[in-house]
Amino acid sequence: MTVEYRQFPASVTPQGPDPDTSRWMRAAFDGFLVNHPDPGEAQRIASSWQAEGRTLHAFYDPRETPNGFLGNDVPVATMATFTAGLHGGGDADIPCLLVADVTVRTTHRGQGLMRRLMDRVLAEASRQGVPLAALHAAHPALYERFGFAPATRSASIEVDCARFALKVQPPGLVHEADPGIVALFDGQLSASGRARHLGALQPHRVPTDAVSRRATAERGSRCLVHVDASGQVDGMMTFVFRGWTPDAQVIDVLSESWCTTDARAALWQTVTSTGIATTVRARDTALDEPLQWMLQDRSAMRVTAVTDGLSLRILDTAKALEGRGYCCPPASVALEVVDALDTVAGRWRITVNDGRATLRATCEPPEVQLHAVDMAAVFLGATRVNTLADAGRVTGSPSALATLTMVMSASSDPLSTLHF
Ligand SMILES: CC(C)(COP(=O)(O)OP(=O)(O)OC[C@H]1O[C@@H](n2cnc3c(N)ncnc32)[C@H](O)[C@@H]1OP(=O)(O)O)[C@@H](O)C(=O)NCCC(=O)NCCS
Repeated sequence: MTVEYRQFPASVTPQGPDPDTSRWMRAAFDGFLVNHPDPGEAQRIASSWQAEGRTLHAFYDPRETPNGFLGNDVPVATMATFTAGLHGGGDADIPCLLVADVTVRTTHRGQGLMRRLMDRVLAEASRQGVPLAALHAAHPALYERFGFAPATRSASIEVDCARFALKVQPPGLVHEADPGIVALFDGQLSASGRARHLGALQPHRVPTDAVSRRATAERGSRCLVHVDASGQVDGMMTFVFRGWTPDAQVIDVLSESWCTTDARAALWQTVTSTGIATTVRARDTALDEPLQWMLQDRSAMRVTAVTDGLSLRILDTAKALEGRGYCCPPASVALEVVDALDTVAGRWRITVNDGRATLRATCEPPEVQLHAVDMAAVFLGATRVNTLADAGRVTGSPSALATLTMVMSASSDPLSTLHF
């Protein structure tokens, strides 16, 4: 099939998305079989894409179509990319290409269009020296063939309000705030040292995170803000009440952001003490969740689901591993990474000292052999190297596997709450 490739920046005018962006948006929404946004929503989405600096990639089928059919100016395949920094525990965030809205029109599927788009954007990012790519995979098996593996996991939790009681009363005050000014508080929290999980993403073009987007996307959302003894905002939570049902009255936490443990504890105390909700639920919490250990009765909180989070693709082995932080004692292992990209594949010696790694290409026989997709799975420490060895995916001597397991381990659970 002959198709034409085009890429352009997402763009918005005072009247709405520009014509190319509007048709691209239509194709992407059709690809996911979701309703087209109304004009106000389309304007909001396109403005956010433009602010993030999204590049929209598309294939067009140039064949003429009869009147009343979708025109040949509407893409038959879509993919969006933009850049962010990934917190890998090192001194600086690791540059990362974010990939979103991967769709191919139903009538054009199974003909390699997605593969052509993916190969193109990954090869281009690798050429530009970007060490990582990331996406949210609805179909992990689909993305594994492109070298992506889930690199974070997150828990969904449910808290029984009647049994929520903190062990220690936190200082400071909680206020209700207008959810419309969430972005303002978000900026203040970033400036005053918001707690960041390993795996957190910060888009390069917009100094914001999931907080403002999720908070403003939900109708009826509410906002709580914590201020410390000096009056400084040091925590924020947005939530929505799901209404009355005969069995339970549920609040869903939409977002949380905090600089101190006290702020987080106080926000949870407030959201669980409305006197109306019986249950508070939250997604995107760490598997090893500290909140549970703050409670007098840890069974007041239970994990209802564990899901894969962010999927990563290594695009440059040396840059990616040198950008990450390490919490192990000095160690050194010779690796062989198997991959189609020559910035990834090869024999490397990784040497870790004082929390940092250096990689040099080597000719020596590898002590551990693994594919790039497995390197992505262990990159943030969510999966152990030894787990993949037990699955028959990574090979090496027991001592070398143990050393690499220790090298790649993380001091806390990686978690990524930015949905893009
Ligand atoms: C998923 C989707 C983008 C695939 O597009 P496509 O053009 O048909 O895919 P391709 O023909 O390029 O296939 C690429 C490869 O993925 C495989 N593949 C395609 N769809 C797959 C799926 N749902 N699960 C697993 N593998 C899949 C193909 O076999 C092919 O493998 P190969 O190149 O190794 O032979 C398309 O089906 C779609 O738009 N689905 C709805 C939207 C969606 O789910 N997007 C992904 C969101 S994470």
